[in-house]
Amino acid sequence: MEKTFLMIKPDGVQRNLIGPIIARFEAKGFKLAGAKLMTISDELAEKHYGEHKDKPFFGELVDFITSGPVLAMVWEGEDVILTARSMMGKTNPKEAASGTVRGDYGLTVGKNIIHGSDSAESAEREIALFFDNEEIISYSKHDSNWIY
Ligand code: PPS
Repeated sequence: MEKTFLMIKPDGVQRNLIGPIIARFEAKGFKLAGAKLMTISDELAEKHYGEHKDKPFFGELVDFITSGPVLAMVWEGEDVILTARSMMGKTNPKEAASGTVRGDYGLTVGKNIIHGSDSAESAEREIALFFDNEEIISYSKHDSNWIY
């Protein structure tokens, strides 16, 4: 099943949005396969955002993402990569539609609440950067005898 990497950024954590954001992806039907609250090192931030290293905002981006805890997550489900991106909304919250995470909770492009992989290649790369294999949990939601 397809997997993607989503990360609630320091502004989302500080603003107590972990619960509401996770609830959206659960309600949509996706399954959480891995999660950790962590503080990102400069080295990891520079690797994660490596494709933007020549952009004028790179320093600001690295400073912000390392400024406080983030919630790194792996989510699983049909077409989760593209669907999660559409649920997140456009990068700039001012342009993001209402009903999307950034449209509802964000104000500025730097502090835009959430990051999500934009392709299968990015998802694979980003999951491997943040998670060891044993931290990604494979489980079924319909084989228990204690849900009525
Ligand atoms: S680009 O130039 O189109 O490739 O960049 P974009 O996809 O719009 O943004 C890539 C990530 O950089 C963040 N960003 C910024 N951070 C700080 N300051 C400024 N001005 C800025 N502009 C863009 C943006 O939030 C993206 O982060 P992620 O985590 O990938 O959403």
